[in-house]
Amino acid sequence: MRLEETREQLVERLTRSGDKGVLRFITCGSVDDGKSTLIGRLLYDSKLIFEDQISTLEKDSRKHGTAGEEIDFALLLDGLEAEREQGITIDVAYRFFNTETRKFVVADTPGHEQYTRNMATGASTADLAVILVDARKGVLVQTLRHTYIANMMGIRHVVLAVNKMDLVDHSRARFHEIVAEYLKTADGLNFETITAIPMSARYGDNVSHTSEAMDWYTGPTLLAHLETVETARDEASQPFRFPVQWVNRPNLDFRGFSGTVASGQIAVGDEIVVAAAGTRAVLQRIVTADGDQEAARAGQAVTLVLDREIDISRGDVLSGADDRPQVSSQFAAEVLWMHTDEMLPGRSYLLKAGGQTTPVSVTTLKHKLDVNTFDKEPARKLELNEIGVCNLSTSRPIAFDAYKDIRETGSFILIDRYTNLTVGAGMIEFGLRRATNVHTHAMDVTKTRRAEIKHQKPAILWFTGLSGAGKSTIANLVERKLTEAGHHTYSLDGDNVRHGLNKDLGFTDADRVENIRRIGEVARLFVDAGMIVTCSFISPFRSERRMVRELVGEDEFIEVFVDAPLEVCIARDPKGLYKKAQAGEIKNFTGFDSPYEAPESPELHVRTADLSAEDAAEQVIEELKKAGRLG
Ligand code: ADX
Repeated sequence: MRLEETREQLVERLTRSGDKGVLRFITCGSVDDGKSTLIGRLLYDSKLIFEDQISTLEKDSRKHGTAGEEIDFALLLDGLEAEREQGITIDVAYRFFNTETRKFVVADTPGHEQYTRNMATGASTADLAVILVDARKGVLVQTLRHTYIANMMGIRHVVLAVNKMDLVDHSRARFHEIVAEYLKTADGLNFETITAIPMSARYGDNVSHTSEAMDWYTGPTLLAHLETVETARDEASQPFRFPVQWVNRPNLDFRGFSGTVASGQIAVGDEIVVAAAGTRAVLQRIVTADGDQEAARAGQAVTLVLDREIDISRGDVLSGADDRPQVSSQFAAEVLWMHTDEMLPGRSYLLKAGGQTTPVSVTTLKHKLDVNTFDKEPARKLELNEIGVCNLSTSRPIAFDAYKDIRETGSFILIDRYTNLTVGAGMIEFGLRRATNVHTHAMDVTKTRRAEIKHQKPAILWFTGLSGAGKSTIANLVERKLTEAGHHTYSLDGDNVRHGLNKDLGFTDADRVENIRRIGEVARLFVDAGMIVTCSFISPFRSERRMVRELVGEDEFIEVFVDAPLEVCIARDPKGLYKKAQAGEIKNFTGFDSPYEAPESPELHVRTADLSAEDAAEQVIEELKKAGRLG
């Protein structure tokens, strides 16, 4: 049976690297630089769209299209599938055309500054970048930005298209001036070839035919260059990588691992290794929709059958027995942030790499990059379209390669845990050793034993709410009652912790995230000590409260929403801080110019406007009893 290729698979196949007969390139520049004219000119002059494409397109158009019997080219305007599933619209239009010698896929992305992420998406599968410059304007900051992103995304071939030469009298001197200026920066990057071509897209000069007006230029036209440039990475000679997309088990007699070969090649009889576990097996069969094959190479979708049953699940990466990927839970990466909600170090996101998905956080934001000047700048957070160099830490080890070695296994996306949106993309630079050399030491005395001799079960009582809502007051009463009953407690409180452990932190979003991350770790240690620990922190963000919840056992985290309307808190104003905030003397004050995200399903919700602190404390004790924490 031959499975029909879906539109998504078609776009995926044509836009991923691997097929040598196809050149994938990206055009960078703004409309003003003549980008649309250039693409239009290329399409017009080649007059062809892939033939096999057209038939699929026609079929698709009839099925999904809105253009009747006509071909619906809008079906080709497609972002990457993963991103689309995640609900982010990435504006990349892929256009397909060919000449007699080569097929082309051009990723056309909007050139405006906001669209760094679009460009990065287009660039992630491209072999070559055409960087457009207006001959009158020369090299602009955006030219450098495009160049930087192309380099970061692993593109190794650049064409500097110096356009609108007709408007500078086809001046050879002007062309050389621009090229010299460009090379000053681009020379230091990782490009294998940089080809500068003077052109006039409007008249087709040096696009597809040699310009008479610029007879001083003896190089190729753009199209001639695109037809002949040797970009093929020798993917087959790269190490074999196969991220398992799903385990295919239609019946008891068959068990195969399906996915697309990310790099390298494999043949029946070769030994394979499951990267993370280190288990080995021999490849017995390579099954495809068209029957069995002896070998498979980068880009092919296959199902692998092994000679023995070993534990492999979705997300595992299979490799050859020698050149294995790195396996670590900590690594350094460049992260491109794609969302208006900023990236905050310490916050938990989901990392998706190949088929692997795991919670992750940025442990250190080393610096961000000014993509206009390539300068490194200190940063506490990343905003939309910013690029940062970070250390990241995943909840469990993942298998990966450096992006510069293998793009497919060296890249990942970051997903927001609440909205499920893609919020960032990353390129791994290298694994961090320290994670692999630090092991968890098993102690003889366990948490359970420590708690037993205290005749209780450990717990975190997490009080969250606005300043002045009554968190500390209630926590104080709860602790008194518990100790009177002979329980072992400790109390962590915002004002107190901020005088010691967290005295380096202020009240920006980034600092509040770090504040709660540290408190969470400390509270976890107290739980491990068998204690009941009360934590009174505004803790305004859901993400961090959830992060602490996930640090301990399910019954060990009790969230108490200490709820009082802002007006009530303002009227109470126990520390006179609301007055100061109203007078503009304190910035980032919760409830004023800093947000508070109320809990959606706390274990206990106490409304302190109509409830005494004493009664609230009783309710908390009841909740503890209900959860079986008091022995
Ligand atoms: S949190 O947001 O990071 O959880 P935390 O509970 O540690 O805050 O600290 C809050 C306490 O710091 C408040 O009770 C208040 O006394 C004091 N404070 C000083 N400045 C601010 C501010 N801008 N916003 C909130 N609280 C502040």
